[in-house]
Amino acid sequence: TPTNLLGTDGAEHKRLRLLTAKAFSARSVERLRPRIHDLTVELLDGLEAGAHEPLDLKNEFAFKLPMSVIGELYGVDAAEHGYLRDMYVKFFSAVTGPEEFLETYATLERYYEGMIADKRANPGEDLTTELLNTGENGDALTDLEVRGTLQVVVAAGHETTVNLLCNAVRALLAHPEQFDLVKEGRVGWDTVVEETLRFDPPTSNMIFRFATEDVELGGQTIRKGEALMTSYGAISRDRDEHGEEPHPDTFDLTREKGRHISFGYGPHVCPGSHLARMEGQIALPLLFERFPDLRLAVADGELENHPSIVVNSLKELPVLLRP
Ligand code: HEM
Repeated sequence: TPTNLLGTDGAEHKRLRLLTAKAFSARSVERLRPRIHDLTVELLDGLEAGAHEPLDLKNEFAFKLPMSVIGELYGVDAAEHGYLRDMYVKFFSAVTGPEEFLETYATLERYYEGMIADKRANPGEDLTTELLNTGENGDALTDLEVRGTLQVVVAAGHETTVNLLCNAVRALLAHPEQFDLVKEGRVGWDTVVEETLRFDPPTSNMIFRFATEDVELGGQTIRKGEALMTSYGAISRDRDEHGEEPHPDTFDLTREKGRHISFGYGPHVCPGSHLARMEGQIALPLLFERFPDLRLAVADGELENHPSIVVNSLKELPVLLRP
């Protein structure tokens, strides 16, 4: 199995972080800004025909954009974005049995082998090429590690971004007085993204982390080696940390910014945060500019989450785009 960032620690992990840092840097992913804009507009154009009927905004919009952006990041043709999306739907599908899972995994590995060969022959301005060009300081990623990095980007960067988009739309629709602040230009879309990350984080909890030494926390001792679950959802609602005013349980775009660790913390902190934020900051205003009367097609209380303790993911987001 390819080694990857999420599955390693210590010196091994540090080496992978160093070798991949440039490819993930804000500077490298900034070049995607115009493409994210165009991909969003294309998706919105595709929604026009069904805009008067209820549709699932998650499936038709939020689920599509992040994989297309990852496709662009990798430097693959737009025609292949749908293929990648379908492969990963299979890959992560809970109903897939072990044999189908392994088959899908092997197909993806072959796909990445082909992609790597192609980028070696035809380098581009993309993450894959950057990962292949890491040898400048003597050490380089192996092909296995390049594939591991490509795989982990989808695992860590797809559904999380889908959830960010859905959770932001939901929060704005459920809090019209807050949304008005955005419409009046008193609050920016960057704030919408940050407050969504805090209020309704795309990843609720991270399993498993292990204490590397005895730690005293909140009157408890966590022993070295014990398994921990870090709960981003709970951390950003902690009243001791955030105070009572405004209450951390409320979606409030006027609160002090930066009060969450929904991208993690420490050596494993999310290297895709710049890209994820950029995507939210581009896609959300374009969506609401195109469909200013967008509203939920069901009551907010009827929205259901996937039964998961890790991802904070709506099953569907039924909306009317032009009621
Ligand atoms: C809103 C969207 C996103 C959220 C909320 C999110 C959140 C996280 C979290 C909580 C972690 C684990 C941090 C830890 O263990 O302490 C993580 C790791 C990671 N994320 Fe993200 N992420 C998002 C988007 C992305 C995107 C778009 C990419 C890729 C372009 C990405 C790539 C990664 C990778 C490679 C790791 C593993 C890093 C490591 O273990 O060293 N993420 N992310």
